[in-house]
Amino acid sequence: MIRSTFRLAVGAAAIALLPGLAHAQDKLRVGLMLPYSGTYAQLGEAIENGFRLFVEENGGKLGGREIEYFKLDDESAPPKAADNMNKLVKRDNVDVVIGSVHSGVAMGMAKIAKQTGTLMINPNAGADAVTGPMCAKNIFRSSFSNWQPGYATGEALAKTSLKNVVTITWKYAAGAESVGGFKEAFEKGGGQVVKDLTVPFPNVEFQALLTEIASLKPDAVYTFFAGGGAVKFVRDYKAAGLGSIPLYGAGFLTEGTTKAQGEAAEGVITAMHYADNLDNAKDKAFRLAYAKAFKMQPDVYAVQGYDAAQILATGLAATNGDAKQIDAFREAVLKAKFDSPRGSFTMSDSHNPVQDFYLRKVTNGENAVTAIASKALADPGRGCSM
Ligand code: BEZ
Repeated sequence: MIRSTFRLAVGAAAIALLPGLAHAQDKLRVGLMLPYSGTYAQLGEAIENGFRLFVEENGGKLGGREIEYFKLDDESAPPKAADNMNKLVKRDNVDVVIGSVHSGVAMGMAKIAKQTGTLMINPNAGADAVTGPMCAKNIFRSSFSNWQPGYATGEALAKTSLKNVVTITWKYAAGAESVGGFKEAFEKGGGQVVKDLTVPFPNVEFQALLTEIASLKPDAVYTFFAGGGAVKFVRDYKAAGLGSIPLYGAGFLTEGTTKAQGEAAEGVITAMHYADNLDNAKDKAFRLAYAKAFKMQPDVYAVQGYDAAQILATGLAATNGDAKQIDAFREAVLKAKFDSPRGSFTMSDSHNPVQDFYLRKVTNGENAVTAIASKALADPGRGCSM
């Protein structure tokens, strides 16, 4: 008895001297702070599915550690973001938080991540500030900045004969920044935004604004909507008789939504870092595995969840599974070239993906690639210093 107690004590002391081994003993505590209710609920689920798929493909472990999940529904509610993040960090003592979808929520989370040094991987929310003025060594994004798809769409539209455009979006950071990126490229290319229209998030009462668009008679409309709101907008747009005015958007407008949008989505043109018919081996394998595991087709949100796990695995491989060794984690992630279903991408110095944006047109319910809208587009990372 005494001998076995002694052996245990010596073993524990040896493990304490080897941080990598010590971590291999316990599970990696992963917080999933995502919307599981409201207009973005489907997006949260797709992100979690993608994340879990990568983990399962890697034997249920990341950085040599099994995973324990802590799920929290953030309700896409920015006022609750700081408290929710604190619950995961302080109550549940997680090693890393994966979240979130809504830009306002992500900014609340980033503030706490910065204060506490907790590793945060943002699998969707595009808030420019997260990899801009709020950037930090421990905050990474596997998705995009709101500026990116807006800018890529603006570049593509500027190359057409459509010169006068009306924008319409939700009145919050994601909509404003998406329109900002669009305007920057479109006006640089000779186009003109004649009117910006907004509705409060997550309202879907579009009728009055659609009537205004009809009276303005623009050459085209640019929009940012996603999830349930995107379904309603595309259907209402067609029902309002605006079908002859080309509808453009950041790709979220038709991601995971075309089935519900039906006929109304046909012909909608968007730019996005993913599409339904990419010709790469990684995506083909991913789509098969995803369909087998979840009995549905993946979308961009699933890809971003998958790549959040891939970023985490890359960083943890360099730290023997220790999520607190941020410098080594960061160095490995910045050096990596990620083999993603979207095509390969690298991480910018401000921790945002540098990636291709595809121009897509909805054809028979699929987001089909028609061209590359913008090659290896990097967010400018304005205001980031770390
Ligand atoms: C955002 O709030 O950043 C966002 C939400 C849904 C899709 C894309 C961006």
